Amino acid sequence: MYAQISTLAFVGIEARAVEVQVRITPGAPAFAIVGLPDKAVAESRERVRNALHAVGLGLPYKHLTINLAPADLPKEGSHFDLPIALALMAAMGAIAPDAIADFAAIGELALDGSIRDVPGGLPAAIGANALGKGLICPAGCGAEAAWAGEDFTLLAPPHLLSLVNHFKGLQTLSRPKPNVEANNELLPDLRDIKGQESAKRALEIAAAGGHNLLMVGPPGSGKSMLAARLPSILPPLEVEEMLEVSMVHSLAGELMGGKLASRRPFRAPHHSASMAALVGGGSRPKPGEVSLAHLGVLFLDELPEFTPQVLDSLRQPIETGETVIARANHRVVYPSRFQLVAAMNPCRCGGGSPGQSCKRGPRCASDYQARVSGPLMDRIDLQIEVPAVSAADLVLPPPVEGSADVRIRVDAARQRQRERFRAHGATRIRTNAECSGELLEKTAMPDGEGRALLRQAADTLGLSARGFHRTLKVARTLADLDGVEEVGQIHIAEALSYRGESLRQRQVA
Ligand SMILES: Nc1ncnc2c1ncn2[C@@H]1O[C@H](COP(=O)(O)OP(=O)(O)O)[C@@H](O)[C@H]1O
Ligand SMILES: [Mg+2]
Repeated sequence: MYAQISTLAFVGIEARAVEVQVRITPGAPAFAIVGLPDKAVAESRERVRNALHAVGLGLPYKHLTINLAPADLPKEGSHFDLPIALALMAAMGAIAPDAIADFAAIGELALDGSIRDVPGGLPAAIGANALGKGLICPAGCGAEAAWAGEDFTLLAPPHLLSLVNHFKGLQTLSRPKPNVEANNELLPDLRDIKGQESAKRALEIAAAGGHNLLMVGPPGSGKSMLAARLPSILPPLEVEEMLEVSMVHSLAGELMGGKLASRRPFRAPHHSASMAALVGGGSRPKPGEVSLAHLGVLFLDELPEFTPQVLDSLRQPIETGETVIARANHRVVYPSRFQLVAAMNPCRCGGGSPGQSCKRGPRCASDYQARVSGPLMDRIDLQIEVPAVSAADLVLPPPVEGSADVRIRVDAARQRQRERFRAHGATRIRTNAECSGELLEKTAMPDGEGRALLRQAADTLGLSARGFHRTLKVARTLADLDGVEEVGQIHIAEALSYRGESLRQRQVA
């Protein structure tokens, strides 16, 4: 007796087709699973045996072989329980083999036969759809799986018994509806911040062009507060982006109630985070914070407190927009195109503002700042100083302009960028920060005066090629915020002021 059903194995966010083949042969009673199963898959034997027993099916007293093909692809996770159980049931004649022929299945079984939620409902549904099959998944994964398409067959039973009854025609499982998170919760608003006009301006530029931002300032100056307000001025995700983000969150098991979120992710890992937590990996590959921040913000507060190895591991995702995790016999790739926002005190004791020297002298600041490597600093387009809030600012009434007003300018600037990139046929690029090389020089070259200033600055400041391009990118965003097509001298001048030159000079002094 033989039966088979499709399922999926996740390699990064990609779902690869796997066949679960079952053969029941006479011989010594045994239950063997072959095809590179990990521990969770090997243990599925006990869960499947008990779940089938719970719905009144005892396993035959024969030799049962389960093969997960292709044999060389590692199978990880508990979602192989359901397809193994279904293939066994088909081989035993409990359900018709035809009934499951057009489906792929994922799900974990509980001992009582109920089907438990598993990570990866959305990528599995998209993978199954690409194979031209429907999907059988746990009830809790139904809402996210429904996003794979309207004409896609989807069954999301809560229990093995309801699935059997559905196949027998005794009960109909209704199709789950795709769901989006309501976004009722209010985000913190820029209006809460008094004074700090130049820091707010930098935050607006960062939002408009997707630039990485570093804020340096004494404790209590409002750096963490500013960063937390970035989401309130960022445009929402487009539908296509929402799916991209949700694929990663689904695999990490972080999609609450199967609802897709239209807000950009904002991840703020603590500085004690390990490399595995930040970039992913560990014994079982899982997306890390950099991937969970895909198309959103990664906020690293107290930047120099992160271990240098962890910080260095950020360079690859910043550069390429994806994280590669090398495993013993394969490599896993997760998307991680995030916007980095970092904050730090000028020195370890956090004492003086950058203007004053701290009690332990300038060495304290230079040692502390040296913990962040040059190559990482090089990838931060905007580097600003956030001075302590003055008492005069604190007693002011709240500013009239709030996040909603800033959002309008950010949206307009993003719209200009999108149209420009589309006109140049660069549809994969969404923001100025992602634009590079030739396209940047084509779209962001300043007028005569701007060019003269840029040449002069390049000479006196000794701009590297990367520094030169960084200045151009920021100047392009400034012109977009102004709503003008040509980058002018004022844009170049302002862009140069965000290079963190003043921070470095203080450190040397
Ligand atoms: N510009 C500001 N306007 C209003 N309150 C502020 C401002 N800056 C700081 N605060 C107050 O100080 C607290 C500490 O700010 P925080 O953002 O944590 O500072 P930092 O991260 O720079 O150490 C905030 O919770 C807020 O109450
Ligand atoms: Mg802080």
